[in-house]
Parts: sequence; structure tokens; C-alpha cells
Amino acid sequence: MAHEVRAVVSRRKDAPVEIETIIVPDPGPGEALVDIRACGVCHTDLHYRQGGISDDFPFLLGHEAAGVVEAVGAGVSGVAPGDFVVLNWRAVCGECRACRRGRLQYCFDTHNATQKMTLRDGTELSPALGIGAFAEKTLVAAGQCTKVDAAADPAVAGLLGCGVMAGIGAAINTGGVTRGDSVAVIGCGGVGDAAIAGARLAGAATIIAVDVDDRKLQWAADMGATHTVNSRERAPVDAIRGLTGGNGADVVIDAVGRPETYRQAFYARDLAGTVVLVGVPTPEMSIDLPLLDVFGRGGALKSSWYGDCLPSRDFPMLIDLYLQGRLDLDKFVSERIALDDVEEAFAKMHRGEVLRSVVVR
Ligand SMILES: NC(=O)c1ccc[n+]([C@@H]2O[C@H](COP(=O)([O-])OP(=O)(O)OC[C@H]3O[C@@H](n4cnc5c(N)ncnc54)[C@H](O)[C@@H]3O)[C@@H](O)[C@H]2O)c1
Ligand SMILES: [Zn+2]
Ligand SMILES: [Zn+2]
Repeated sequence: MAHEVRAVVSRRKDAPVEIETIIVPDPGPGEALVDIRACGVCHTDLHYRQGGISDDFPFLLGHEAAGVVEAVGAGVSGVAPGDFVVLNWRAVCGECRACRRGRLQYCFDTHNATQKMTLRDGTELSPALGIGAFAEKTLVAAGQCTKVDAAADPAVAGLLGCGVMAGIGAAINTGGVTRGDSVAVIGCGGVGDAAIAGARLAGAATIIAVDVDDRKLQWAADMGATHTVNSRERAPVDAIRGLTGGNGADVVIDAVGRPETYRQAFYARDLAGTVVLVGVPTPEMSIDLPLLDVFGRGGALKSSWYGDCLPSRDFPMLIDLYLQGRLDLDKFVSERIALDDVEEAFAKMHRGEVLRSVVVR
């Protein structure tokens, strides 16, 4: 039996999203049907709608989601109907060259549902990040469902499925932030603020938030930034060096993903420090850096896909810390909206009015 549900579809590059009825098949082998309870609006959804990720329109948007497993297909043992799950875009295969070496967080062959969700006329949809959760139900690979404590608010839990995990993981997994470190985060949206929360959780002593918007900087301070820098008003490299004894920060996280912010990150880190690129650039962007500086400054230049997370390890742990009051994730939910409000939520994101708008049911 297939299911007809309402969903947010992006049909054409740069056109406003539309509410459509889509057809979601019953789960086949290895798949799970999930009743979506909440899904956050991420900048990556907007990248899809703008054609910045690929040309595979129509997209079924939404990927920061929590829900309840409704049905599973043959051979699924990891999750069962009734389980409260956060959806992930890293269902590890266990067999690729990364997995075989025990580096599951880099899996090069992650799983998605095999069957396609479609429009009513049969047109196949491309689900954002293999999830597609601005919908009442979605179909995913069972490994994309990570069971977490059902006491957590779905609107909060779902955010771990992408942006908040990407930010926390950029700090603690990729950046390796540890007690006493100095950390600077450039771009304080949902991802950057999560990096700030992660740096705080890991015991960073100095956390410098950089943004071009004072409202974002105020929120970053609420998340745990010890200093804020408006890079429209102050040169950010000088400011970060000034706040770190003239040296630069141990870890600098670029949560914008533009050549100018990457350059700032590169020069704002201490010798032997680490730059983490977690913001996603677009295809036309490139950067020119003196190779002698790349060599001479030492350290590490890393990029962070999904915060180098392992969902089965990180989601339940972070939800537990949240429920214990040690990780304040409630602040990431700026507003709760309906499916019909996603286009307006993109506009609010663009105007910098929200950290996360979350579609709830
Ligand atoms: N690597 C991953 O796995 C991953 C996961 C999710 C999102 N992302 C990416 O992370 C980035 C941030 O996502 P988000 O949801 O937080 O977006 P957002 O729009 O909520 O936040 C971006 C922030 O950057 C600030 N900004 C813009 N230009 C700036 C500049 N020149 N200098 C300083 N600050 C600037 C904005 O004011 C805003 O606060 C996006 O590129 C998104 O696609 C990456
Ligand atoms: Zn793999
Ligand atoms: Zn996302």
C-alpha cells in the first residue's frame, strides 16, 4: 500500500517551494516508513532550492527531522514500529574502504531508501540528503533511523539530524576542541551556534563568535561565546588575534563557507592550529593562498561533513546530555511552523531573523 501525504516540493531552480501531495511507498527490504513529527529548516534546503547542490529537480526538501517509525520492511532489525528516531544522512554501509578500516564516520557509500517517492503523476522526487522530511511521512533506509530517548522534544531532537550535529561535531569531532582551548567560530547561524555549544561542552576557555549581524552575535553569546566580533565593524583576524594574546585561536571554524571567511579562518588561527570548514561553498567559489603560509603555519586544514558524526554513537549521547540539562538545545528552536510556512521560513533565514524554524505537526 502506498501513502498519499502532503509535502514541500521544490520543482524549479529559484522558484518558491510548493505544497504537493506525494506518494510514499510502503517500506521494502531494508527500508523504514517514518511518521514525521518535526523537521527543521536548514540553509542546505535553501541551497537545494537555489540549484546550488544539483539539478535533480523536483526535490523533496527537509532533512533535520525526528519522527516515529510506522513500519519497517523485510530484514530490518535495528528499529521497530513505535521507535522514536532522529533521521540521519549517514547510514553507514559497513563494507566500503572507510568502514572496513573502522572509520565509519567517513563511510563513502551511505544508504538511502531504494524505492522512490513520487509526485502523483509518477515523477520521481529527489529527497534532500536522502531524507525528504518536510512531509507527513517519508521513506528512508532503516539505517537512517537512529533511536533516541522519546522524552526529548521532537523539534529539538530533529535538529541533531543535520545542522546542530554538524556544528557540535565540527568542534568536538573534527576540530578536536578540548579543555582550555581557544576557539573562534565565523558565522553564527544554527551551525555556527552549535559549534559554540560544542566548544563549550568540550571545555574551551575562550570562544569567539564572529558574524556580520549583531542579533546573531547576541544569540551566540547566549549559547556560550565569551567574546563577539562584528566583522562589518572590526577586522576579524586582528580581533581574534587580539583576544588570544596576539596569537590566533587553536581552532577556527568557518560556518559560512565563502572564500573570504575561509581566508579569515586561515589567518586567525594560531601556529599549528586547526581550521575546520563546515559551511558549504558553491561550485563557482575558489581560493588562492600563499603555499608558504599553508606550509609555514603548520597545523591542520580540515573540512567537516556532518560533524564527522557517527549517528549511532553521537545522537543518543547528545540527547542524553540535553535531557540532563548539560547541553541547551532548546535555544536553537526559534519558531514552530506548519508545512505551508517553509517558503516564509527561508525568507526569515535570509533576513537573519531565526536560528531554526521548525515544522511541527
Ligand atoms: N558540513 C555540513 O555537514 C553542514 C551541515 C548543515 C549545514 N551546513 C552549512 O553550514 C552553513 C551554515 O548553515 P546555517 O544553517 O547555520 O545557516 P544560517 O543562514 O542560519 O547562518 C549563516 C550565518 O552566517 C552569517 N554570515 C554570512 N556571511 C558572513 C560573513 N561574511 N562573515 C561572518 N558571518 C557571516 C550570517 O549572518 C548567519 O548568521 C551553510 O553553508 C550550510 O549549508 C553544513
Ligand atoms: Zn561504508
Ligand atoms: Zn541541514
